[in-house]
Amino acid sequence: MQHNKRHLALIGMMGTGKTTVGRAVSELLDMTWRDTDQELVAKWGCSVAEFFARYGEERFREEETAMLRACLEEQRLLLTTGGGIVLREQNRQLLSQWAYVVHLDAEPHEIIERLRRTEEERPLLRGDLSARVHAIYQARRDFYRFADLRVDTTGRAISDIAEEIARAWREHV
Ligand code: S3P
Repeated sequence: MQHNKRHLALIGMMGTGKTTVGRAVSELLDMTWRDTDQELVAKWGCSVAEFFARYGEERFREEETAMLRACLEEQRLLLTTGGGIVLREQNRQLLSQWAYVVHLDAEPHEIIERLRRTEEERPLLRGDLSARVHAIYQARRDFYRFADLRVDTTGRAISDIAEEIARAWREHV
């Protein structure tokens, strides 16, 4: 590989399917998979929601950046990330430098439906789910634009999305 982008990273808003698609892509490409949130949960011994409640979002963002750095130092990984990782310019630069970045996107109405069905507790979605998703979608859409590839997942099967990403990755490496 002529470039530094040795990892494959999936970014995207909560509910765009990063975890489900990540699992499928890691199987297709036989890549080691890490998820920044899952790594943090394992490190802390408590959930993201509990960490937010105890220490607040700013502390969470510090931990998230440190975990991103640690993951990027490893050998080639498939990396999935929390939806807000793109908020810090530093994180966008790190991802862009070290990973082939895929932005999983979906229309807000589909994000809302998917999030309704999940049991995970997401601290930033407390209150009116639809209003929160629309607001976060608008506020963050530009932050995802640095990705090398954008994939609209609306109405598509997981296997189909995973295959598109695997194909793009094979062309990249
Ligand atoms: C967040 C998304 C969550 C988690 C935290 C903050 C965000 O990850 O990192 O609740 O700011 O969008 P998922 O995108 O996996 O839900």
